[in-house]
Amino acid sequence: MRLKQRFEQKFDEEIRFFKGMMQGPKTVGAIAPTSSVTARKMASVVEPRSGLPVLELGPGTGVITKQILARGVPAEKIVSIEYSKDFYQRLTQDYPGVHFIHGDAFDIDNTLGALAGQTFDSVISAVPLLSFPMQARISLLEKLLDRLPAGRPVVQITYGPVSPIVANPDRYHIQHFDFIVRNIPPAQLWIYSRG
Ligand SMILES: C[S@@+](CC[C@H](N)C(=O)[O-])C[C@H]1O[C@@H](n2cnc3c(N)ncnc32)[C@H](O)[C@@H]1O
Repeated sequence: MRLKQRFEQKFDEEIRFFKGMMQGPKTVGAIAPTSSVTARKMASVVEPRSGLPVLELGPGTGVITKQILARGVPAEKIVSIEYSKDFYQRLTQDYPGVHFIHGDAFDIDNTLGALAGQTFDSVISAVPLLSFPMQARISLLEKLLDRLPAGRPVVQITYGPVSPIVANPDRYHIQHFDFIVRNIPPAQLWIYSRG
């Protein structure tokens, strides 16, 4: 893509993100779109050969969606839940074929509807966990892991120094995946898995 087009696209993403943040700072939970370095790293855990769909939470402007597609996952194999109507409407235009759902990831059973019983390859999550009570975070994680084959990851971005979900070794395994300075603000990536 030409430099001017890329600049315009990036600028457009920043404006949309800023508008979203002004409308709901707690639900957006960041001050700038996820960097492409971070998005690529998060998408790197996806295994396109599994043939299973990927579940994305909190796609926002779609930077991570774009990197999941770049991994070779067909658009029809991405299910992505976004709470903000503005982001959702724009995503459906920008990424045709991706199954975007306008809804609340924390109410995952209802939000997934007919897909509630679906097994996914992995979960890539940018929902601002720190804006929610710990019990809601744990409950969401358990419901996500119920939908993955043993050993497959839930990847979560966060900005605090420690895992946003407390340890419970009997229930799930926590791994620090990366610390990415080239993100505003610098981001921590965590992986949760079972089995
Ligand atoms: C930190 S932003 C992620 C931004 C995205 N990675 C980007 O760079 O544009 C968090 C996103 O999660 C969405 N979100 C917040 N609460 C949510 C919920 N309960 N269910 C689904 N999405 C939610 C917000 O609307 C926002 O798009």
